[in-house]
Amino acid sequence: MNTFHPPFLNEVRRRIGLKKYKNVKQFVVQHLYPDTLRLLLLLHEYIPISVVVSISYSGSDEVIEALRNKGIKVVTPDFDTLDTVIINELKNCFKACETEKHQLLIHEVGGYTIRILHEFFDTYLHHVIGAVEVTKQGVWEARKLKKLKIPQLNCAETKLKEIEGKMVGESVVASLDYILRDIGYAMVGRKACVFGYGWVGSGVAHSLRARGMAVTVYDTDVIKLVEAAVNGFQVLKSTSDVGTYSVIIGASGTLSISKNVIDGASSRCFLVSGSSKDKEIDLTYLKSQQKETRAIHRHINNHILKDGRQILLVNEGYPVNFTGSSVPDEIVEFLFAELIILIKVLLEETPSPGIYPLDKELEKIPATVWLEMR
Ligand SMILES: NC(=O)c1ccc[n+]([C@@H]2O[C@H](COP(=O)([O-])OP(=O)(O)OC[C@H]3O[C@@H](n4cnc5c(N)ncnc54)[C@H](O)[C@@H]3O)[C@@H](O)[C@H]2O)c1
Repeated sequence: MNTFHPPFLNEVRRRIGLKKYKNVKQFVVQHLYPDTLRLLLLLHEYIPISVVVSISYSGSDEVIEALRNKGIKVVTPDFDTLDTVIINELKNCFKACETEKHQLLIHEVGGYTIRILHEFFDTYLHHVIGAVEVTKQGVWEARKLKKLKIPQLNCAETKLKEIEGKMVGESVVASLDYILRDIGYAMVGRKACVFGYGWVGSGVAHSLRARGMAVTVYDTDVIKLVEAAVNGFQVLKSTSDVGTYSVIIGASGTLSISKNVIDGASSRCFLVSGSSKDKEIDLTYLKSQQKETRAIHRHINNHILKDGRQILLVNEGYPVNFTGSSVPDEIVEFLFAELIILIKVLLEETPSPGIYPLDKELEKIPATVWLEMR
């Protein structure tokens, strides 16, 4: 483990006075990186971890091994079996809750478990204290439920998360640039189109511009389009009018690179996701149009379509920044510090079912510690 990094998380834990909680265990669904390792090892001392389910399109073998060396169970499903594995692990955990008389705290990114709990485990929900969540996707999953039956505390929409969003956008572009340089391709002087001008997308757009690309933006929210225009970006009028772009990046958190966009894209256009899972690009449609696929780099597949166009799909449609070093750990740790605070609030205040953002005043704690320890 990287010992170069200051013990920022532990200092936040100390300042808020997180203590050991008896009779509570964590059920974790996380990306497994060195920063997550530090978070999990720290939290495990206070709220033991029953199992960590790794999100398959991200993560490192070293982190998995380090967790297992500490006696923490880690399961590593591929993305297609993630739901099934979460269901099986929840069953095991609920059995343990009944025999060992403890409760379960859900600690996750992406809202997988909160959805599954409501779909399959209605009669076991009394064993669940609640969930803590880092991502907007996870909050969106909770909002989609007809009736939320547990509290979900989140740091998905905090000011520090917004700051991280910009850095995510920058990491998306840096990762893409790194891959494109490998195949001798220069971004500079070419045209790019970004779908979604939110926290991540605006970071993507600014970073593309900083690399010398002419950037156009599309968003379903007209106010965001005004913001993009005022920030000096061209605005896309129609989603099918994308024939002049060399790079199309989706950062909307939903399917934005749709059939329309794929049909309108020029040959040798790169399609890239900067959001989450494999949501951003209509991969089913892309595959239905292809004659054959050839790998031209370990992170780029050339989809040769029946109409002769070549569409270059990056990282199989998963976020490009998961191919290597992404947002620097010290930035991601803002959010992990917020998550530690959420855990304390959940365990000590036991809120009723609902969605709760982190209190603005509490957000000042990690911000202060971060500035002091940098
Ligand atoms: N890859 C990563 O490391 C990483 C890190 C953080 C967040 N994310 C993910 O990135 C996504 C975006 O996050 P955010 O914080 O920027 O969200 P956001 O809500 O700030 O921005 C999303 C924007 O997309 C727009 N939008 C929605 N549907 C659209 C569509 N069909 N076409 C074009 N625009 C559309 C929305 O109006 C909004 O402006 C989320 O899925 C989030 O979970 C990824």
